[in-house]
Amino acid sequence: MKIVVIGGTGLIGSKLIARLSEHGHEGVAAAPNTGVNTLTGEGLAEVLVGAEVVVDVSNSPSFADADVLDFFTRSTGNLLEAEKAAGVGHHVALSIVGTDRLPASGYLRAKVAQEQLIRDGGVPWSIVHATQFYEFTAAIAQAATVGDEVHLSTGYFQPMAADDVVAALGPITVGEPLGRIQEIGGPSKVRMSDFVASALTAQGDPRTVVADPPRPTSGPCCPATSWSRDPTRASSARRTTSGAPRRPPRCERHLTRHVAPVSPGSCAARGARARSVVR
Ligand SMILES: NC(=O)c1ccc[n+]([C@@H]2O[C@H](COP(=O)([O-])OP(=O)(O)OC[C@H]3O[C@@H](n4cnc5c(N)ncnc54)[C@H](OP(=O)(O)O)[C@@H]3O)[C@@H](O)[C@H]2O)c1
Repeated sequence: MKIVVIGGTGLIGSKLIARLSEHGHEGVAAAPNTGVNTLTGEGLAEVLVGAEVVVDVSNSPSFADADVLDFFTRSTGNLLEAEKAAGVGHHVALSIVGTDRLPASGYLRAKVAQEQLIRDGGVPWSIVHATQFYEFTAAIAQAATVGDEVHLSTGYFQPMAADDVVAALGPITVGEPLGRIQEIGGPSKVRMSDFVASALTAQGDPRTVVADPPRPTSGPCCPATSWSRDPTRASSARRTTSGAPRRPPRCERHLTRHVAPVSPGSCAARGARARSVVR
């Protein structure tokens, strides 16, 4: 089926396009540099012709509070109107675990606004909440750097690889609209300070991680696995045996203060020895 991926040139979008074509679907990357701009509406009607599904994995170029709110509300509004006009049957959006639990974050307030527009938008929908991507580790460290020190919470988080995000997002994309949020997370609960310290060590980065007290939040996880709309192959993670939507299992309560994404990095360091964590 034709699936338009808004933000299809980005980290998650480009991986999703590749996986969709491996599974026999026609994934079309839509982004400003392919001639589609959801803020202006440029190219939207054209790219949606014949599309059955739209996946929105776009991101705001600016994370300033007003900019990011404008980005997610305006782009989502334009997108939903264009989808209705084109007869798109499923709108999928990638968001973040805990969006509604950290209103102090302008980025998360914008994601909440995006999600509300989707719920009210009139296009059958699925929203996937993912935990932080491993690929953002370097940027988390950068955002927390003061001089030679990286100040991070000792609270737990449950990061995941972008490849695993796509492995969960794909089957939801090609499945029936969930009409609810599906949460997904990484395999291990780790202290943010330890995790980032390990990554820095593995990369030979000389900065010292200094632990700060955590702030509370929590998050469940439950990835789906099937890339087919065939119900006999639908993921047991998304349906109960009676066919009713299943509530996602909840993870252990964890603590984190850095929830909003920042920018790419590598997590080749996972499992490496933590170093220099004070307290
Ligand atoms: N970071 C995390 O830990 C995390 C966790 C959970 C969920 N998420 C969510 O995951 C999503 C994808 O993140 P990502 O890291 O893959 O993003 P990314 O790599 O920054 O890619 C963003 C994409 O959005 C496109 N874009 C920007 N402005 C656009 C516009 N006006 N119209 C259409 N497309 C536009 C970009 O196109 P150009 O390259 O042409 O500018 C690019 O393809 C985000 O919505 C984020 O909130 C992130």
